[in-house]
Amino acid sequence: MQLSSVFKHYSTGAGRLTVLRDVSLTIAAGEFVSVIGPSGSGKSTLMHILGCLDVPSEGTYRFQDLNVGTLDASALARIRNREIGFVFQNFYLLPRMSALRNVELPMVYRGVPRAERRRRAEALLERVGLADRIHHLPNELSGGQRQRVAIARALANDPAVILADEPTGALDTQTGREIMALFRALNEQGVTVVVITHDPDVARTARRMIRLVDGRIVSDGRVEES
Ligand SMILES: Nc1ncnc2c1ncn2[C@@H]1O[C@H](COP(=O)(O)OP(=O)(O)OP(=O)(O)O)[C@@H](O)[C@H]1O
Ligand SMILES: [Mg+2]
Repeated sequence: MQLSSVFKHYSTGAGRLTVLRDVSLTIAAGEFVSVIGPSGSGKSTLMHILGCLDVPSEGTYRFQDLNVGTLDASALARIRNREIGFVFQNFYLLPRMSALRNVELPMVYRGVPRAERRRRAEALLERVGLADRIHHLPNELSGGQRQRVAIARALANDPAVILADEPTGALDTQTGREIMALFRALNEQGVTVVVITHDPDVARTARRMIRLVDGRIVSDGRVEES
């Protein structure tokens, strides 16, 4: 993933608002990166661009050698579905579906045969530590367990990258730590992980920390092991 001199502007009633300013950034396969910064600093905007949910106003974004700015909507959708797994603060699980069905869903959209889908969803739920909760509905799970289901779902199509926007924001400190430990384990298994957070303790779980202020990168460096 490579951003070169990216700007993002929004036009609002009050005029043009610039929320990313000259952002240049390369994230290599296999990295574990956190993006930290105050509210309104542009973190989610950056994640939307990295995740091909939005495109830069200026500058270029390359994802696996594709210039994202030149792709049409269906090509962007294909990248999102095949290459990127998204995790959000509020989980976004479907409330009437079991953990297993929630994890199967991206594979349904992709046309994976039922038996294979089920086998893979079970394996993913086991991988996130939920082998004994696969038939539970979301409201029968704790917050941390719901986030684990969402992470298993994000892994369903075997993405190269996981993008997580405030994945611990709705969780208590200890549960948040457990979720970050899970991301670290997934990263050690080869998944590129980008976690957005406003919490410095969460950010330090990653190997590299990028700090945004007012839409600019103000620091970018290795996290010292503690
Ligand atoms: N669609 C939009 N139209 C206009 N302004 C927007 C739009 N989306 C975001 N913004 C503005 O861009 C700025 C950055 O927003 P963004 O969501 O990226 O911040 P953030 O760092 O994720 O903040 P938070 O920590 O509160 O989630 C904010 O000032 C916001 O009001
Ligand atoms: Mg945000």
